[in-house]
Amino acid sequence: MKTTVKQGTLTGTPTEVLVIPGYESDSSMGKAIQPLDRNLGGQLAELRKNGEFQGKPNQTVLIHTRGAIPAKRILLVGLGKRDDLTLDRIRQAMGTAAKRVRQTEARSFTAVIPGVNRSGMWPDDLAQAMVDGVILGDYRFTAYRTDAASKCKPLNSMTILVDNASIVNTVKRGVQRGEATGEATCFARDLSNHPANVMTPSRVVEEAKKVAKEKKVKLSVLNPSKMKQLGMGGVLGVGQASQHPPQFIILEYHGGKKGEKPIVFVGKTVTFDSGGISLKPSENMERMKADMTGGSAVLATLRAAARLSLPLNIIGLLPVVENMPGGKATKPGDVLTMLSGKTVEVQNTDAEGRLILADGLAYADRLKPACVIDIATLTGACTVALGQFAIGLLGNDDKLKDQFKAAGDRSGERVWEMPLWDEYFEQLKSDVADMRNIGGRGGGMITAALFLKQFVGKFPWVHLDIASTDWSASDRPCISKGPTATGTRVLIQYLLNTVNKPHK
Ligand code: BES
Ligand code: ZN
Ligand code: ZN
Repeated sequence: MKTTVKQGTLTGTPTEVLVIPGYESDSSMGKAIQPLDRNLGGQLAELRKNGEFQGKPNQTVLIHTRGAIPAKRILLVGLGKRDDLTLDRIRQAMGTAAKRVRQTEARSFTAVIPGVNRSGMWPDDLAQAMVDGVILGDYRFTAYRTDAASKCKPLNSMTILVDNASIVNTVKRGVQRGEATGEATCFARDLSNHPANVMTPSRVVEEAKKVAKEKKVKLSVLNPSKMKQLGMGGVLGVGQASQHPPQFIILEYHGGKKGEKPIVFVGKTVTFDSGGISLKPSENMERMKADMTGGSAVLATLRAAARLSLPLNIIGLLPVVENMPGGKATKPGDVLTMLSGKTVEVQNTDAEGRLILADGLAYADRLKPACVIDIATLTGACTVALGQFAIGLLGNDDKLKDQFKAAGDRSGERVWEMPLWDEYFEQLKSDVADMRNIGGRGGGMITAALFLKQFVGKFPWVHLDIASTDWSASDRPCISKGPTATGTRVLIQYLLNTVNKPHK
């Protein structure tokens, strides 16, 4: 979808659909709307008066203008209460609008930018949220549909209408950022949506090769024999029963100064998590095709960073495995020697994410990173603790944690911190090895992160547990049912904030 920014008026803009956001419990449509409503013979005021459009979050009303103005249709979309306006409300309203426009025959529309002139709301951030929302709301995964009906065409273009020429360039900057986060999320959603018989470890490598076609991006891949040479016991141990050999992807983006330390992302990329010998129950097991979302988010983030030419050095590390049972599988009680040299007793083969990430984190240390962020669908305990609206955040550095809290709030993918106290290590002790890979009852998200911490070098580090938000049971304004590609936007927003200090 292409977005343009134009200065103009509501009554003088030809378009298929004119999208106008409205607040809840505003008695009128606001001053700016009055000339428009005069042309429409007071229809909008009547909708308000009759309570047919109340402006509740994501409420929509569509009317045909029948030649009264150059716009063919008007779509009113609710923003909720004026005082409760957030960027995410705007993002959701636009996701809702995109879905509603798509139900008409129109494939292009014009939207008014809401919230300008409000304190704490900047035109570039507003535009970013709008574009992001439309792209996310328009997303559907139809790669395996053979019926024409479900192949409904995506939207072609959107115009953002501003009344003041002085903000056009600022709005354009926001549009570019919204396109980057929205498109990256759709790319990551596609990766996690493809079934595991297609999205095998070698296919993930193919996808990384495509990303490496972007400017200043370089790819290297460690195959199992190279991993053996290095001693990556975690990745090899998890992947050893699969027909699809594990891979270790290293994707580098050199947009920053030569010699500047890289930001390193490590993404859990389990193309299918059956649980291994500690087999998962069959109910919902199909969802484990999305156990690679950490890796999807990292690939998409690197692609976005390259497309935005961010002046940063970034390295993405993806340990890629399929976790399967079989004659060669790692068994409960087996001991693995990890890349760092530490030993782990595998008491549950379903706690595989931490084993592959441990090698990823140990590898990151060799890259002399500025900081390391790992992202993983790591624990069911994350969902128990946080439900479906917050990503788990743990780490060893307050500044980096604060940066992720800020990026979470701004991107609409909010994070919530959990403690990472060393006392919890008691639960990870093993009788035969340096540690075991499960922490027993209680604090499952914490013990998993504390396990990872044993492999973290002397660098600022945060861990994002996205198991809570990885899968949506229903369609929402900006989230489609199924894999959500959660985390992609918070990673990109973190990079954007690193480059441009966010507005206060
Ligand atoms: N991939 C799962 C975690 C998960 C569960 C993600 C549900 C998304 C939805 C992970 O590998 C896993 O199986 N973790 C176990 C760890 C346990 C055995 C200590 C879990 O959380 O049950
Ligand atoms: Zn598992
Ligand atoms: Zn897993």
